[in-house]
Amino acid sequence: MDAELTATNSPPLMMALRAHKRGGPEQLVYEEAPRPVPGPDEICVAVRAAAITFAELTWPETWEVDGIDRTPIIPSHEFAGVVSEIGPGVIDLAVGDSVFGIAPFNRDGAAAEFVVVPAACVARKETGVSDVTAAAAALPALTAWEALRDQTHLTAGQRLLIRGGTGAVGAFLTQFAHAIGAEVTVTVTSALAEARARRLGADHVDVTTPHSEARDQKAFDVAIDAVGDNVPEWMYASVRPGGQLIVLQEPPSKELADKYGISAVFFVVSTRHERLEELAALIAASQIEVAIAQTFPLSAGRAAYESGSLPKPRPGKTVILVP
Ligand SMILES: NC(=O)c1ccc[n+]([C@@H]2O[C@H](COP(=O)([O-])OP(=O)(O)OC[C@H]3O[C@@H](n4cnc5c(N)ncnc54)[C@H](OP(=O)(O)O)[C@@H]3O)[C@@H](O)[C@H]2O)c1
Repeated sequence: MDAELTATNSPPLMMALRAHKRGGPEQLVYEEAPRPVPGPDEICVAVRAAAITFAELTWPETWEVDGIDRTPIIPSHEFAGVVSEIGPGVIDLAVGDSVFGIAPFNRDGAAAEFVVVPAACVARKETGVSDVTAAAAALPALTAWEALRDQTHLTAGQRLLIRGGTGAVGAFLTQFAHAIGAEVTVTVTSALAEARARRLGADHVDVTTPHSEARDQKAFDVAIDAVGDNVPEWMYASVRPGGQLIVLQEPPSKELADKYGISAVFFVVSTRHERLEELAALIAASQIEVAIAQTFPLSAGRAAYESGSLPKPRPGKTVILVP
């Protein structure tokens, strides 16, 4: 009788990719986990596609919230899927809606059959846009928009330098900056990426090696580092005095910013419902290119994360598919 009661009362389970200890892809296991339940103003989404930002396993908020360890964690915060349950207070979404969005970084992500997120963190996906495309665009496109619109207020004619102009975020920076009418210079690491950068709208492309120096000092109104390693000093030096450097991976050096008389800013993207809606329309109208490098089933999620340190078959996002 006791056993029956326990079985009846146990929470429903789902399959998920989880890490029980801080670390890299080697910590990820595909296993059963409690199926999350939406609270007030939240929804549960049956995940169809979850995209990866490889650096996420190094972000503090992946592992802790307010300084408290939150393992086991589920990674991958960029997703598309179908609303499976709505919490109290959600009025503008219904079970069965196709949505895409970004889960807050300090709670469980979408490498699972289900993810619970605040309803404000998703938008409806337009018919005809695949789950993979929507999941792949959500985070890098919103990050690029926030960098250009809210952090720099980039305007037509301004000179912009993007280091890493064909990465996931870099490719959207290049496309959006071109659409704004800025004069866009990007750095890339190969001739293949050079051709892609030009197709995305770059006016000038610099094929660099990791240790190469910028050619033009003090030449740019705005510079954005979208690579993900340490920001080289030449990026600071490339900005004109009074100009702006945006860094995506870590707070920049105040010392170097002062040395070159520039402002240097780090920000973390915020999920904005209205921006996701704008993005949905842009993707549906094929006005932006969303590149997919490769896909993996959820059961091979660990291999998907491990692929971050291997050469990609083609540029773009790596996406986990949830059957
Ligand atoms: N702050 C935020 O809210 C936020 C949001 C999203 C991402 N991020 C951060 O943004 C960074 C980029 O993320 P991502 O997803 O766009 O990564 P990604 O897709 O891996 O892009 C990185 C790009 O940098 C290029 N690259 C590497 N070394 C280079 C070099 N020496 N010179 C020029 N380009 C170089 C890579 O080119 P190859 O492939 O040819 O090497 C790749 O295209 C990460 O640090 C991530 O954590 C921050």
